[in-house]
Amino acid sequence: MSIFFDLILIKKQEYCNLALNKQTKMCNDLQKSFDKIIDGNKEWVDFVKNDTSGRFQQLAKGQNPEILWIGCADSRVPANELTGTKPGEVFVHRNIANVCVHSDMNMLSVLDYSVNVLKVKHIIVAGHYGCGGVAASLSSSQYGIIDNWLQHIKDVYRLNAAEIDAITDKQQKEDRLVELNVQEQVSNLCRTSIVQNAWKNGQQLAVHGMVINIASGELINQNCTFTSNDALSDVFSYK
Ligand code: CO
Repeated sequence: MSIFFDLILIKKQEYCNLALNKQTKMCNDLQKSFDKIIDGNKEWVDFVKNDTSGRFQQLAKGQNPEILWIGCADSRVPANELTGTKPGEVFVHRNIANVCVHSDMNMLSVLDYSVNVLKVKHIIVAGHYGCGGVAASLSSSQYGIIDNWLQHIKDVYRLNAAEIDAITDKQQKEDRLVELNVQEQVSNLCRTSIVQNAWKNGQQLAVHGMVINIASGELINQNCTFTSNDALSDVFSYK
């Protein structure tokens, strides 16, 4: 029996090797943009080498971040730059339009690990004005598989349709939905068993909602911070 499984493993290994041995050449354009990344890393390696504080040696041993950042995958909203934090200070999860869905194993794993193992003190849901995902949610255009993901934001619109529909300016509509989406995702996080159990166990944990203004760099607090499940109605509040 064991030989049989060994053979399967060997076969699988051969298959993997075959796949990996088929490296192809990049055209000049691709090579150029890839080289930029490699060159950028060389600069970073120099920076790390010249750092005498010992912090990178310390970081190599482990992390102890106080913040979990759940932001949009948009390339313009990097967590560290926006918060003036350094490597090791922010645990990050990003997806299109910073959505927190209760059935998303990726998000739940990040949340569970950061709350129960890393013991972060703050969770920040960070949306941003000019979010393509939110704008797409307000349109009837199809963009592919993402349309199904964006249904979660269309749900936020559905819950706030009266308010959104009353706004006539397209940009303002989108901006408001960005804000409402952040509030909804904060609410979603607070309703998870993970966050509620942390509060129940006396863990100090605050969940915040913020919106980034890309043009000014400002993080705008949406004043929807929660530190307990007191504000949740009975159906959502676990005993
Ligand atoms: Co976005």
